[in-house]
Amino acid sequence: MKEFSECCEFLQSRTIITPRVAFILGSGLGSLLEQVEIDATIPYREIPHFPVSTVEGHAGNLIFGTLCEVPVAIMQGRFHYYEGYSMQQIAFPVRVLKLLGVECLFLANATGGLNPAYKTGDIVLIGDHINLQFDNPLRGKNGEEFGVRFPDMSRAYDEELILFAQKSAQKRNIVLHSGVYVACCGPSLETPAEYRMFRLLGGDVVGMSSVPEVIAARHAGMRCCALAAVTNESSTAQQGVETSFHTVQENAQKALPNMTAIFTDILMELKIGS
Ligand code: HPA
Repeated sequence: MKEFSECCEFLQSRTIITPRVAFILGSGLGSLLEQVEIDATIPYREIPHFPVSTVEGHAGNLIFGTLCEVPVAIMQGRFHYYEGYSMQQIAFPVRVLKLLGVECLFLANATGGLNPAYKTGDIVLIGDHINLQFDNPLRGKNGEEFGVRFPDMSRAYDEELILFAQKSAQKRNIVLHSGVYVACCGPSLETPAEYRMFRLLGGDVVGMSSVPEVIAARHAGMRCCALAAVTNESSTAQQGVETSFHTVQENAQKALPNMTAIFTDILMELKIGS
């Protein structure tokens, strides 16, 4: 489609990097960037056909560079369904990344902990998800150039990348839970009854992102690995204590160094040359 080729041509004219791995970083999770040798930082608003991020705390840049000698693209700031974007708009950058050469997609997000064993600041390796956004980026005419009409989702999160993440956590003595991510529309946080329901449904954490991107990425054959920072515990809501966006951001920061370490360890295990 014309939108994709115009977008790719523009990006290729702005960077010498052919990215093999991409990162989508959410609320306050941008500091992985400190380790990247940056070639180009391109504001979303300059990129043809890109949606523009509207959430406070989400910088809107697409960054190209190298991390651990691997050519990477980093989405600093993501697009959420609650901002009013369609699922297709949320999937657009993922598909562009695929066309640019990305094979692996790493996602970081902030979540509410449903599993009572999870504490604020913990990290959860997402092993599966439940899509309660009740929409799908693949709805409508199938993009045959990306993938099949009915893509399999039995292994949405790549088994080898999961093993690399677990190995990294073990080596570094990081507590890394494995859990099921429940995706909701937001932007309101859950009521105590909703948190209880999501736990009953089989969820370990709840958030407002990532699932549309993972569905689009899997459709296009990309390998996915997602880490969730537990920024608040649902038990807090059960006790009638409020959770603020500020708290969510602050607690995401706590998990950040360990998330960055795990992602970079996985990258090194992947042994992708530049
Ligand atoms: N619910 C949904 N999304 C979230 C939460 C939560 O409790 N915390 C951070 N993102």
